[in-house]
Amino acid sequence: MKALVLSGGMGLRLRPFSHSLPKQLIPLANKPVLVHVIEALKALDVTEIGIVVGERPEKIAAVLGDGAELGVRLTYIQQDEPLGLAHCVAIARDFLGDDDFVMYLGDNVLTNGVVEMAREFRARRPTAQLVVHQVADPRAFGVAEVDEDGRVLRLVEKPEDPASDLALVGVYFFTPAIHEAVAAIGASARGELEITDAIQWLVESGADVQARTYTGYWKDAGRIDDVLACNRELLDGIKPCVDGEVDAESELIGAVVVEAGARIVRSQIIGPAVVGAGALIEGSSIGPHTSIGEDCLLRGTEVSDTIVLARASVEGVRSIRGSVIGREASVTAASADGSHRLIVGDHASVEVAA
Ligand code: DAU
Repeated sequence: MKALVLSGGMGLRLRPFSHSLPKQLIPLANKPVLVHVIEALKALDVTEIGIVVGERPEKIAAVLGDGAELGVRLTYIQQDEPLGLAHCVAIARDFLGDDDFVMYLGDNVLTNGVVEMAREFRARRPTAQLVVHQVADPRAFGVAEVDEDGRVLRLVEKPEDPASDLALVGVYFFTPAIHEAVAAIGASARGELEITDAIQWLVESGADVQARTYTGYWKDAGRIDDVLACNRELLDGIKPCVDGEVDAESELIGAVVVEAGARIVRSQIIGPAVVGAGALIEGSSIGPHTSIGEDCLLRGTEVSDTIVLARASVEGVRSIRGSVIGREASVTAASADGSHRLIVGDHASVEVAA
């Protein structure tokens, strides 16, 4: 079985970060979302992976290369415009050949994995097998109606009035029959070739389309609050490991990772937390649920429930919470008169005490 990872799209809901970084490279527990996705695929014994890339493909290639370091073989497939998930399947036709494949959306985080579902798909080989998850409000997702044996009766993309509470998770198992369906459908009201419509075409043509319910943690890390929630969830699963230096006046509480070359000086780190390679934390309190990227500098500060990306610095600012600080950004204390001085990039969002 091959894999097709979708990593194009615009990432509008993740601005300003997506101005300079494809959203699938946002780090969660200090690893890009796409690396978590590739690790999930390896757990299915899938190593032949096509990756659909859109804007700034060179940034993704710079992180993933040919996949060898992650133990997989990557083939990049360029999508010039985000014309939909089914369009991605169409442009990947040569890569996919006549193999079965798992399609994995590059912004989906599933901490429990889908190993059992992959095993069942390989054993039974229905025409397609979907992963669904019960949610309170499925209107932002594809929605499936499924009978008691797990057979899909109907699929609708982002319905206003959902007929069930089963949302489509961004992991799909396909036999090559999907290619005929993709070729048969037209664009949706939002102008995209929807994979949901292609699968519905299979259902209508009488094909065996199955759905299996995933019950673990799942999120589509499309908005900042979702990114922070995923970061918390992935940090909750980390194993403590100290490769950097922690001085005698510092304290590590709970699950804390201090990567090689990082230095903790006169500070308290409350796990779960990760301090990236080469970072310096001095006179600060960090965590819980905080990831500090590589080569960051944090001095005289208190940071919790936050992601600080590589090479950013935070100095002299108390009580930072629920925040994401971009690469090489700098956050410092207000001037003596208490006024705020802000140099804020396009589409950024800042909340200051009134
Ligand atoms: O997250 C699950 C949902 O994903 C499903 O419930 C929906 O049925 C499915 O259509 C999809 O909905 P979204 O509106 O959330 O999809 P989004 O546009 O965010 O794209 C998902 C991923 O695919 C994302 O990593 C970007 C990538 N993508 C998207 C489009 C439209 C591409 O690579 N190319 C594209 O043309």
